[in-house]
Amino acid sequence: MAHQATLTIDGKVLELPVLEGTEGELAIDIAQLRAKTGLITYDPGYGNTGACRSAITFIDGEKGILRYRGIPIEEFDRPHPDFLEVAALIIFGELPDKAFLKRFSAISTANANLDESMKHHFEGFPENAPPMAQLSAMLNAISCFHPEFFTLTNGVSFEQAAGRVISQIRTVAAYSYRRSKGLPFIYPNPALRYCANFLHMMFSMPYQDYLVEPEIEDALNLIFILHADHEQNCSTSTVRMVGSSQANLFASCASGVCALWGPLHGGANLAVIEMLESIQRGNQKPEDCIALAKDKSSGFRLMGFGHRIYKNYDPRAKILKKCCDRVLKKLGIQDPLLDIARRLEELALKDPYFIEKKLYPNVDFYSGIIMRAIGIPTSMFPVMFSIGRLPGWIAQWKEQQDDPAKRIARPRQIYVGAPLRHYVPLEKRK
Ligand code: CMC
Repeated sequence: MAHQATLTIDGKVLELPVLEGTEGELAIDIAQLRAKTGLITYDPGYGNTGACRSAITFIDGEKGILRYRGIPIEEFDRPHPDFLEVAALIIFGELPDKAFLKRFSAISTANANLDESMKHHFEGFPENAPPMAQLSAMLNAISCFHPEFFTLTNGVSFEQAAGRVISQIRTVAAYSYRRSKGLPFIYPNPALRYCANFLHMMFSMPYQDYLVEPEIEDALNLIFILHADHEQNCSTSTVRMVGSSQANLFASCASGVCALWGPLHGGANLAVIEMLESIQRGNQKPEDCIALAKDKSSGFRLMGFGHRIYKNYDPRAKILKKCCDRVLKKLGIQDPLLDIARRLEELALKDPYFIEKKLYPNVDFYSGIIMRAIGIPTSMFPVMFSIGRLPGWIAQWKEQQDDPAKRIARPRQIYVGAPLRHYVPLEKRK
């Protein structure tokens, strides 16, 4: 059935088309609203605004469904495909065949090294520079070395650029960690797969290779897969916003890192661990945390809980919770933070405040505990989120560039400042 919306403004009636997505979701098309009525819409935080049509990721937040290119996220759990395979699916739209995957992996392997002079850029950062600041700066810096990618004129150059940035984000991330520890940089090893190579660059020594445990590689691979895209979240919308001015892929992805940094988004995994550690140190009990989170005046939120879209258990959190139990058991680790997390979840899920507001654990609630167990330092947690999210940023950037309906992103505003007044020269001001 074709849907139609009718809007009445001061007695004037306007018929508005209604768009329908593949899964039946409906949207009122207001593209002509201002031209026909002089009015705009007001939607702080864009909670009701569809900014694009996208064929990449489907989420049903009420039902807790997440699909990449139509495939439910659960189908990537046990056995996990390689992260690069999922990245290729997200970026290019189809599960890659063997030949394509081989080619894409070869691009990644061939481009893992940074230009040698980029190493000096890291030396310019103070040792305690936040890894996210280094990551965004260095991703942007890659574009200085590859102006040929400023305009991606065909599928081949896009494939090359996508493979390069996916590969190099990992090298930049590992180097920023090495820099913060005063350790020598470790070059990528072309014989290793994506995650194993990252762990090698993070933890090997020039005189001793880090032994990559399969459980650790596997858990990291899963974490990256589960973060790979999440439709129009804050960082992805930022990438699209920047890309809408036709800024290049590297610059657009660097802006995504900046957006991801905040504690309400990719920084939440770090904030969760800080919260759990604070409870462990005895600063407050889990019960106090829940009470604080319910008290608006405290400004405190239960980190790793709640989501703009999910009004049900985040499907990624479900998989990560199981992975967390599995990895800790396999590695023989007893992490008291996991007990605290479980207790917080138990308390929250039966508390009327959380039930009424439909606040459930999100992807960040258990991911940090896994990353701690596999030896990733907490300062690197948002960086790990960035590596995982990169395929989504690339895919969304490309989809936007190819969209015939694309326009520079330029929201409007409702001006609430001073009415007309006049300039008073400095000497005449009181
Ligand atoms: N603890 C306590 N109360 C909360 C929480 C929380 N974690 N999250 C939401 N609420 C309350 C909020 O106070 C509000 O109450 P009221 O309606 O009475 O004003 C209501 O629930 C709706 O919250 P909101 O802030 O309007 O929701 P939002 O969609 O704007 O924000 C969110 C979503 C994820 C930023 C928020 O839930 C939050 O701050 N969570 C904690 C940070 C976090 O875990 N972020 C990671 C998100 S998942 C990964 C990612 O995509 O980055």
